[in-house]
Amino acid sequence: MAKSKNNTIFFCQNCGYESAKWLGQCPGCREWNTLIEETVVTGKNMKQTMGGIGARNAQNKPSILSDISLQEEDRISTGIKELDRVLGGGIVAGSLTLVGGDPGIGKSTLLLQVCRNLAMAGREVLYVSGEESLKQIKLRANRIGEFNEHLKLLCETGLQNIQETIQRNKPEIVIIDSIQTMYHEEVSSAPGSVSQVREATSVLMQLAKGFNVSIFIVGHVTKEGTVAGPRVLEHMVDTVLYFEGDRNASYRILRGVKNRFGSTNEIGVFEMAGDGLKEVPNPSEFMLNGKPKDASGSVVVCSMEGTRPILIEIQALVCHSNFGIPRRQTTGTDFNRVNLLMAVLEKRLGLQMGNCDAYVNITGGMKIQEPAIDLGVAMAIVSSFKNRAIDDGMLVIGEVGLSGEVRAVSQIQTRVQEAKKLGFTTCVIPKVCLESVKEIKGIQVIGVSNVREAVDLI
Ligand code: TYD
Ligand code: MG
Repeated sequence: MAKSKNNTIFFCQNCGYESAKWLGQCPGCREWNTLIEETVVTGKNMKQTMGGIGARNAQNKPSILSDISLQEEDRISTGIKELDRVLGGGIVAGSLTLVGGDPGIGKSTLLLQVCRNLAMAGREVLYVSGEESLKQIKLRANRIGEFNEHLKLLCETGLQNIQETIQRNKPEIVIIDSIQTMYHEEVSSAPGSVSQVREATSVLMQLAKGFNVSIFIVGHVTKEGTVAGPRVLEHMVDTVLYFEGDRNASYRILRGVKNRFGSTNEIGVFEMAGDGLKEVPNPSEFMLNGKPKDASGSVVVCSMEGTRPILIEIQALVCHSNFGIPRRQTTGTDFNRVNLLMAVLEKRLGLQMGNCDAYVNITGGMKIQEPAIDLGVAMAIVSSFKNRAIDDGMLVIGEVGLSGEVRAVSQIQTRVQEAKKLGFTTCVIPKVCLESVKEIKGIQVIGVSNVREAVDLI
């Protein structure tokens, strides 16, 4: 379709779906009332939008791989180990990183801490805020610590100005807080709309690649769909990090969901303290804090988050139901998976749980989908049902199949080592994995081939 200058398109504010006409329901994400008319930037306008970067790259020639030199300096450490890990070893020069997360989760705090560390290391950093005034940033900075003159602050929402400042000051790292407040003069729709967010990101990407600056973009995720979700930009940026966690709990998890320069699956764990975010180098210890002693329905399992084992407590509560249809509820794990495990327990062990309410909770607000926690969930349910506590020094690992068999899990050695490190005395693992852990001394390892054998240990 040829686009004239005043062309308008309907964009879904939730998923970015484009449509030539208005629709009540978005065919992309099935949300209602999310399509909003926006003017699109076309042809001649687009060139101005890109700020002449295209012109500078006019004599761009194809290169061969052996001609491209990589400097050692290409990764810049943020001074925060947990963040470096998620980024795949540090910030890549000229990369564009999106940090998403619910409002108030700590995105601005984390990035200001990164700014501080980088500025302290003598790098030029520019922090652009479209949300807070200089005074407010100063208040936050006071809580975090000392800053030096390498960090420059700018309160600005106009992209043209930001672009000029970057061109003038040539910082190495730029933070844009947040993309939803930025607007491009050429785009007529409101800041936060899909076309604005998309246009702003594309300008920032050109800047990052053109000037070799590393740019971090903050993006809010809202459920209402009034603000364009950062999902629209996920495909445009190099790296996407999500900051998760219960806003009421003190710890936060930074997860990489896309990374052109490293592995995803890695997580960083932080704790929100009075003076900014603190790294949690040993998350298992942190997660098991406050585990009740000799309580029925509580089991410790080991889940792998990327290359890291994390020990987590699973709690189950099974009690007699007062209503016709028993209630089943899960927090932090897959509801259907728990129902399936209960069905396996009923059928294979003959436990009559059909008239019982069941609640399964992963403590600490973690969300785990890994099948390796199946056996732990099953044992927690049985422990609560029989009202018999599981030994405090016991850790349970294993996937459960439909016929009640306990199946092998990956990276069993790492998991058992982590259990040993945290002082667990017994480890229940799938029988088929026994061979791989026989070298690990100092912890009793019990191999089970089906759920019945595991449950008999309670
Ligand atoms: P913030 O970084 O503003 O969140 P976001 O940018 O993701 O919206 O963090 C907000 C919360 O963090 C706020 O509720 C206050 C709290 N906080 C602390 O508990 N300690 C601190 O040192 C700081 C700076 C913030
Ligand atoms: Mg913020």
